[in-house]
Amino acid sequence: MKVLALNSSPRIKGQSKTEILLSSLVAGMEKAGAQVEVVHLRTKTVKNCIGCYTCWTKTPGRCIHRDDMAEELFPAFIESDIAVLATPLYHFTMNAAMKAFIERTLPVLEPYLAQKGEATYHPLRGRHPAVVVLSVAGFPEISVFDQLSSHLRFMYGKGLIGEIYRPAAEAMVLSPSYMKVRDDILDAVSEAGTELVKTMKVSKATMERITQPLGDKEVMARAANIFWKTCIREKMTPEEMRSKGVVPRPETVEEFVLLMKMAFKPEKASGMNATIRFEFSGEQAGTCSFAVSAAGMEETMGPTGKADLVIRTPFEVWMDILTNKADGQTLFTDGKYQAEGDLAVLMKLKELFGR
Ligand SMILES: Cc1cc2nc3c(=O)[nH]c(=O)nc-3n(C[C@H](O)[C@H](O)[C@H](O)COP(=O)(O)O)c2cc1C
Repeated sequence: MKVLALNSSPRIKGQSKTEILLSSLVAGMEKAGAQVEVVHLRTKTVKNCIGCYTCWTKTPGRCIHRDDMAEELFPAFIESDIAVLATPLYHFTMNAAMKAFIERTLPVLEPYLAQKGEATYHPLRGRHPAVVVLSVAGFPEISVFDQLSSHLRFMYGKGLIGEIYRPAAEAMVLSPSYMKVRDDILDAVSEAGTELVKTMKVSKATMERITQPLGDKEVMARAANIFWKTCIREKMTPEEMRSKGVVPRPETVEEFVLLMKMAFKPEKASGMNATIRFEFSGEQAGTCSFAVSAAGMEETMGPTGKADLVIRTPFEVWMDILTNKADGQTLFTDGKYQAEGDLAVLMKLKELFGR
């Protein structure tokens, strides 16, 4: 079986969530024996269709443009058994690069008007591959894909054999707390690839794993907003934040607790059972505690009973340490904050909480 997998994200490797999911799908397809060609549309020239109908009249089946689409992609498309259209969700539908590609598949149709029931259609000139759509979105609701799904179902009918949609795709890769779910999602996408090659469909159970929720969407939105505020303050794009390792800066104790929760890595807490209390002073005065163990973390606002480690610090001082603007060790020696209790836990904080 021949598969042509098209990725229309403009982002380069490592940054594109479409590409991350597509890689898993392709791995699953190859595992099932398919021969897959992956094409990143950002590296190809696909001119816009100019509506001249040359491909329907003067040179039937052949476009007037001479570009990568005409010379390379269209021939590969009509020769493939499955075409995977992988697109980021832009303004609740496919992005412009994917739309340009689809419009340029016009030569696959004949100009004649035919009727099926109430509907008018153009007959196919030759063979057309079965279509699989894969899309990722920033928002967490699965309903963000309704328009894309409706459009492609209308256009391809039974020819659309798979729809793989992943909401909250940005959050999926950003927070360490989602890592386990993310791995399961990517594994399910790979499984979908295998199923598509073997059965030309994706099972309900696999789809449920792909679309499983990451976590509380209000928490996700609050964390995202702290992230965006930091981007604006630092005048950095999300990618610059990521590559320079810039940590989002909480502005309140509540925001601090939320980010600590998202950054916690339970696998680093094996054998631990410790409560850490922060007593913040200054404009953002307040107290919060984290009970940490391999099973997870419980956070409490306000004073709690016994704590194994108590950190007394001006809020802004700790935020400087958290965001790597100051060195925790130096500030401790300089007496800018105090730590009381099990200092081994203090030394382990960086390891327990990812970026
Ligand atoms: C121009 C633009 C429009 C977008 N529109 C939506 C949208 O309508 N709904 C949504 O949930 N996410 C939207 N997003 C977010 C992207 O879908 C999300 O960042 C996705 O992970 C991008 O995929 P990529 O990393 O493969 O490029 C938009 C992003 C951009 C840049």
